[in-house]
Parts: sequence; C-alpha cells; structure tokens
Amino acid sequence: MDLDIRFTDSESWDASMPERLRWLRENDPVHWSGHDDIWVVTKYADVSAISKNQKLFSSAEGVRPDKRIKIGLIDEGEPRHGNLRRLINRGFTPRMVAKLEEIFLRITTEAIDAVAERGECDFVDDIAVPLPLLLIAEMIGIRREDHDRFHQWSDRMIAADGNADDPVVTAAAGQAFFEYSTYVTEIIEDRRKNPRDDLVSILTGAKDEGMLVQFDKEMMPGMETGEEYESLANDELIMMLVILLVAGNETTRNGISGGMQLLIENPAERQKLIDDPGLIPSAVEEMVRMVSPVNSFSRTVTRDTELRGKRLREGQRVLMIYPSANRDADVFDEPDTFRVERNPQHLGFGIGTHFCLGANLARMEMRVAFRELLRRLPDMEYAAGGPVLKPSALVRTCLHMQVRFTPERRAA
Ligand code: HEM
Repeated sequence: MDLDIRFTDSESWDASMPERLRWLRENDPVHWSGHDDIWVVTKYADVSAISKNQKLFSSAEGVRPDKRIKIGLIDEGEPRHGNLRRLINRGFTPRMVAKLEEIFLRITTEAIDAVAERGECDFVDDIAVPLPLLLIAEMIGIRREDHDRFHQWSDRMIAADGNADDPVVTAAAGQAFFEYSTYVTEIIEDRRKNPRDDLVSILTGAKDEGMLVQFDKEMMPGMETGEEYESLANDELIMMLVILLVAGNETTRNGISGGMQLLIENPAERQKLIDDPGLIPSAVEEMVRMVSPVNSFSRTVTRDTELRGKRLREGQRVLMIYPSANRDADVFDEPDTFRVERNPQHLGFGIGTHFCLGANLARMEMRVAFRELLRRLPDMEYAAGGPVLKPSALVRTCLHMQVRFTPERRAA
C-alpha cells in the first residue's frame, strides 16, 4: 500500500484514498505519517474516543493540521467553548429551525422551478450550491443582490485549507475574510439599532446583555475600557458569522450532491424513498455516513498516552478521518452498501462537546431537499460523464454534476 503521501494535503485525497483508508483500518489503524508529522486515525472506536476526550486530545490548538490560526468555537477550549456555544445555540432552537424550514422550502422550490422544465441541469451549480448558501445568507441577513459575492467569499475562505503553501489562494482567502467582515459589521451595527427576529439580532442582543463583554474580560484580563470591549465583541460576532458560513455551506452542499449521487447509483434504494417518503430521515443519516462531507479534523495530544499500542507524545497531532470511521466494518454491516433503512449512528457530524452545532439544520435541509427532489424530479440520472470531484483534505468537493430528468410540465 502506498502510504508515501501527505494526508493533510488536498491533492492526496484523490480516488486512491478510500482503498488506502481501508488498508489502514485493517492493518495500521493508528498510523504515524512521517511526511505530515501526524497520527492518522481511521477506526470508528478511536475517532469516537478521541472526540469525546478533550482533556487528552484538545481542539484548542486548532482543528486543521496545516494552520494553527484560531477560527473560534470549533477550536476553543473549555469553559469558553461551552459559553460561546450556549450563546450561539440560541439561533438554533427548534423554533428557529422551524422558521428556517419555511424559508428553506421556498429556496428549494425556487431552485427546482428554475430547472424543472429544462429536463437537465448542473446539479451542483443549480441545486446543491444555492440551497445551503441562500439559507445561511437569509440567516445572516445578506441582501439578495450580494448573494454572488457571498458565494465567492465562502469558496475563497475554504479554498485556503490544505493549500497553505499557495500564496495566491491564501491571499484570496485573506481578502475574502476582510470583505466579508466589513460587510457583516454593517449588518451587526444595523441589528443593534433595529433588532429583528433573526440570528444576528439574537447574537447582538446577547452581547448587549453583557455576555460577550464578559468573555472578553476573561480573554483580556486587565483591559477595562468600554470602547475596547465594544470592538472586541464585534470581532467575536464576526468570527461566529465566519464559522457559520464556512462550516455550514460546503459541508451541506456536498452532503446534498453526494446524497444525490448515491440515489442515482442505487435506483432500487431510491425507489423505496419514492414509495415511502417516511424513510427520508433515515436515508439522510445513511447519506451523511457514506458521503462523510468532512474528511478530517485534528487534535493535539496534551500528555503522553497510548492508543492501540502506539505511543503518542504530548504536543503531537492526531488526524481523525471521518469517511474511514464511517465505513468501519466492525460497526457497519456491509459498510460500502447504501441502505436507506439503516438509520446509522455515524460520526459524520463528529461526537462529544464539539458535535456539529448545525447538525439539525443540515438534517432539515437534506430532508426537505430530497423530499422535493424525489417528488418532482424522481428519475434524475447522470448526463455527460457524471460527477466531477476535486480532491480536498477538508470537505469532500463535487465541482460539477450534469444530470437529466423528465421535464416537469408547468401546472395549468
Ligand atoms: C452535512 C453537513 C455538515 C457536516 C457533515 C458537518 C460536520 C461537522 C463536524 C464533523 C464537526 C465536528 C468538529 C470537531 O469535532 O472538531 C462540526 C462542527 C461544527 N459545525 Fe458542522 N457539519 C455540517 C453542517 C453544518 C451547518 C449547516 C452548520 C451551521 C450553519 C454547522 C456548524 C458547525 C459548527 C459551528 C461546528 C463547531 C461546533 C463546536 O465546536 O462546538 N455545520 N460539523
């Protein structure tokens, strides 16, 4: 088996990766990758145990191996992480998700309407990209005319991952971050003056209750002037809005495009969902298991320890490979088979204190999207060569997917 690669480089994640991961699960599940200086962990039980043990395997030094910059929340230690998470969770209550479901159904209906009579489309550009993107744009309050810019900011910020050596990509990401920050600062200022029933108003409201100011004091002991608190709190809000964009967009996009691939490639399973849409929630879990939109996150070992007989040293990094854990034959019977009834307990959203904050939102999006797609365009199939994938160490990336289907007749 060719293990002479860097697992943290995006180009390594080509079509040869699944076979390599299978080999590692069976032969060297806690593998030292000398090229990356990182432990590569491929089995379900280990990914689960590491994720649940923040004391020993910390997120606080970053969860992406190639850069140790702080993104916030996802790489925050306790107790700050728990505090921030409780705060941002206010935007994800069942009431908020129900309200977002209405908005999301409208977004989905409009996207399908735009292609339904044509009988063909690029599933990525026309469906998978706009759905999560427009929902997050609505959540944050991005104006319609700025949705294209919003899309570009998101793509550029994500492209920097796994490409830390590429100065052009890194500079573009920095520029995108700057433009997005400037834009959302305006929105934050506006919601402070004119609060609405939306996420940013909830977050600014929490700040005004003094929650964020308090966190800043913890972070910056000794700083006492109100002015500085104000701007720091702004930064904190901006970071949260960056995380939402980066964490919630490409992941869900690729969950949707990967899920559609599974349906096209497994017509008998798709037929079960058409016959019984009640199976869609279970099918969505199976899609997240098999697609595993997030390929990897990392942790830092906080003291010397042992895992499956390997000695892990304090300060070393550990790379958890989600698509591998989710195809572990010790946990899943016939792991490479797509079964819509399986309703698996997968690790696609992680586990433990950093469990995906947007999991319920992503589930809602995928359920609504596939319910509508299967109802309106049930015979979708590949056209012109099928999916075009781009290797990525972070998020499975489908760039294009030409499809065709029986055109929908316009209702009289
Ligand atoms: C199918 C779609 C998605 C997948 C597969 C996914 C996957 C993940 C995973 C694996 C983690 C765990 C990180 C870790 O343990 O280090 C995570 C965390 C997170 N996700 Fe998601 N995610 C998805 C959608 C979303 C959405 C829609 C949002 C928000 C709008 C979101 C926001 C977050 C945030 C904020 C965290 C950090 C939570 C924390 O550290 O407490 N995700 N996600």
